[in-house]
Amino acid sequence: AGMRALHEAIAAWFERRFAVRLTPEHDILPLLGSKEGLVYSAAAVLNAGDIALIPDPYYPVYITASTSVGAEPYMLPLAEENGYLPELDKIPQDVLAKSRLLWLNYPNNPTAACANRRFFEEVVAFAQRHNLAIIHDMAYAEVYFDDFRPMSILQIPGASEVAVELHSLSKTYNMAGFRVGMAVGNAELVEAVSRLKSNIDSGMFRPVQYAAIEALQLPESWIEQRNAIYRQRRDVLVAGCNAIGMRTQTPGAGLYVWAAVPRGFTSRDFANWLFDKTGVFVTPGTNFGDAGEGYVRISLTVPEERIEAALQRMKTALAG
Ligand SMILES: Cc1ncc(COP(=O)(O)O)c(C=O)c1O
Repeated sequence: AGMRALHEAIAAWFERRFAVRLTPEHDILPLLGSKEGLVYSAAAVLNAGDIALIPDPYYPVYITASTSVGAEPYMLPLAEENGYLPELDKIPQDVLAKSRLLWLNYPNNPTAACANRRFFEEVVAFAQRHNLAIIHDMAYAEVYFDDFRPMSILQIPGASEVAVELHSLSKTYNMAGFRVGMAVGNAELVEAVSRLKSNIDSGMFRPVQYAAIEALQLPESWIEQRNAIYRQRRDVLVAGCNAIGMRTQTPGAGLYVWAAVPRGFTSRDFANWLFDKTGVFVTPGTNFGDAGEGYVRISLTVPEERIEAALQRMKTALAG
């Protein structure tokens, strides 16, 4: 699916950005946004009765994509003290024996955590050892700050034996409404997704494909200028949250700040209280799974002045 020129533009972008060479016809599949790729990849891997390993908190699609084909989710709690990386050695043997799929998402939504090379090396070796497929959701690949550059799991030797990675032009090029994404990596999985998908949709509108090709050729300076705006918002929001007792770390990438709720509130109670009192909306951490309790997710997708105004109202409400 997709024009040859789009496959080639994706391959060129991937090599420029990650120094990984993909074969345009086998290792790449353009998608109508990365979300459908999450569902199709899970359907390609999982059978009824299999276990899908899902880090918690999670992007909700991982659950529905897994359960809709009859698989059973097994949650891997992500804790602040572990940098929101799953503890693979805590998975019981009987669970591992039935597991077929490990979901990963770095830069992470909602925790804003990032993974380093060592983690990706461990996780690829783990998947090889236990015969697991990995779906790495990298929707936030190009929203990064300072000197940090999120890495692709495909930069790890051997990763293409086990992993498919999903990318999106939604956040990378501010093209959410265009619906363009791609699955890259393990050729067998990419082919399975392609077969499934070709029975459901009949391809992407050509003008959108031309727009995607143009976007993929934008210079890095475009990304950097855009990210400078998000960084400014991030700095205001992180400083503001910490100043009003909502402890948060400074994210290296992504569109969110993950902040601890003030003492005495659950995530949901705090989000509701704040909205009633101030009109400021933050997302309860528990919307992304039980392990999100104690946190809220705050988005960087509003202008700096609005973030400042929201922080001012939050400060007043919490002081009263
Ligand atoms: C973690 C994550 N994955 C995937 C997506 C889906 O993005 P799209 O379908 O627009 O490519 C989103 C969008 O919010 C997301 O946050």
